[in-house]
Amino acid sequence: MPTVLPKENLSVVNETAKASALPPGTLVIFGGSGDLTRRKLLPAVYNLLLDGLLPHDFAVVGIGRKPWSDEDFRKVGREGVEKYSRQAIQEDKWGNFENRLFYFCGAIDDSQTFHGLRSRLEEIEKNLNLPGNRIYYLAIPPTSFAPSCEGLQQAGLVYPPLPSERFSRVIVEKPIGHDLESAKAINASIGQVFDESQIYRIDHYLGKETVQNIMVLRFANSIFEPIWNHKFIDHVQITVSEAVGLGTRATYYEEAGALRDMVQNHILQLLCLIAMEPPYSLDPNVVRNARMEVLRSLRPIRGKDVESLTVRAQYSHGTVQGEKVPGYRREEGVLPDSTTETYVALKLFVENWRWSGVPFYLRTGKAMPARASEIAVQFKDIPEILFNANPAARQAPNVLTLRIQPHEGMSLRISSKIPGSRAQTHPVEMNFNYGDAFSAPSPEAYERLLLDVMGGDTSLFMRRDAVEASWAWITDILEGWKTHGSKWLPEYPAGTWGPVEADRLIESDGRKWRSV
Ligand code: BG6
Repeated sequence: MPTVLPKENLSVVNETAKASALPPGTLVIFGGSGDLTRRKLLPAVYNLLLDGLLPHDFAVVGIGRKPWSDEDFRKVGREGVEKYSRQAIQEDKWGNFENRLFYFCGAIDDSQTFHGLRSRLEEIEKNLNLPGNRIYYLAIPPTSFAPSCEGLQQAGLVYPPLPSERFSRVIVEKPIGHDLESAKAINASIGQVFDESQIYRIDHYLGKETVQNIMVLRFANSIFEPIWNHKFIDHVQITVSEAVGLGTRATYYEEAGALRDMVQNHILQLLCLIAMEPPYSLDPNVVRNARMEVLRSLRPIRGKDVESLTVRAQYSHGTVQGEKVPGYRREEGVLPDSTTETYVALKLFVENWRWSGVPFYLRTGKAMPARASEIAVQFKDIPEILFNANPAARQAPNVLTLRIQPHEGMSLRISSKIPGSRAQTHPVEMNFNYGDAFSAPSPEAYERLLLDVMGGDTSLFMRRDAVEASWAWITDILEGWKTHGSKWLPEYPAGTWGPVEADRLIESDGRKWRSV
């Protein structure tokens, strides 16, 4: 296990502005009575408060259709924090937090809502001595993005981009569209009201500590970069498996499926971080440009390639972690003849000098045996001499595995000599666990992301061109599925690692999915 050096050896660059430097402001959540607010957003803000990272003066205003009072919002907020917060409630701090939570009841399609909201915000801000900096969080379905932005603009709730006395920023949740055209339309409607510098498109994977560590691993160490290319790397596998099934999200998921839900955003962003060129600075746009270049370099998967390079599948009934799970088509809200995929596996290429000829295999699915996200970089085999001379006993290749969740950390597989008088080798793992190396627990993705919006740092957010580039690449596959057999949908029993077709995808190249 690695030893952590004393604090004075820790280097801190580009740190998000400290609490004192963060400007006071108001977080206005559209979808205030919804699930995300209760499960993620309020717990995140509360944890920022506990960690002393919030500006001294702040307010959170939830907006929703439910006829709630401030008291109702506070009660539901507390339940959410009790259930989902990383840190337990501390009564003395909770009082201060709760007094800063407010609720405004209104429908987005009613123009009166926004004028009423403006008066309410001005009243709250006057009472709490807040300067009127506002962050609007759109935790609502994408069809409501445009009317919300227009409503805000018409009510005079959007200031011009900086430099100006106060800021208004907007946070947009996924899904940003269901294909390239719809993504463009959403981006255009938000872009009519907010400048790109004011828009923060969330991909919560980018807020995960271990995902941010990918850049640190690559660019804060000297040993990886020289071998991080096609000369040394055989292939890369990215796995994001989930044990959960559909849950209560049938309406959304039926329209989405695994490719849109997980690959278009989270997994492509993981790929970008693994494959990007070193940015010349940590300036948000420089980093985003570097990620963007990867998306631009993806070889399109079109026509016949869709059949040979992609596998889509759906779970049938089975058992996940001891629990019986009905087949996807039997889940509540799912059509009995649904062809939505709950699993997808892909083989893709990043067509640039660094990655020439290196396949990237991606897979993600629901109702799999375990929740596990990892990136495995497998290095090339050593020459078939010395310890690798025996064709019947080849050396296992070196693999660097970045564990995104759970058991956050990384490991490197190397060959080692088995103690004894014979020259026998065995693969061993060098392991680094976040939990063991650092005593402080990692913040939740939403904590980091909200803090960055308050500090005006866009590095970890999706720029418009990146969203559209990833949709362009995904839309080719969706089109291919439509013409080349969207009906062809193998099944995998819930609680298994996916269909045999996915095994074939990688095994026909002489490789194997890793056991995670
Ligand atoms: C969301 C998807 O974006 O990410 C969900 O819509 C998925 O379907 C979730 O379950 C996974 O996130 P995490 O952080 O639990 O890996």
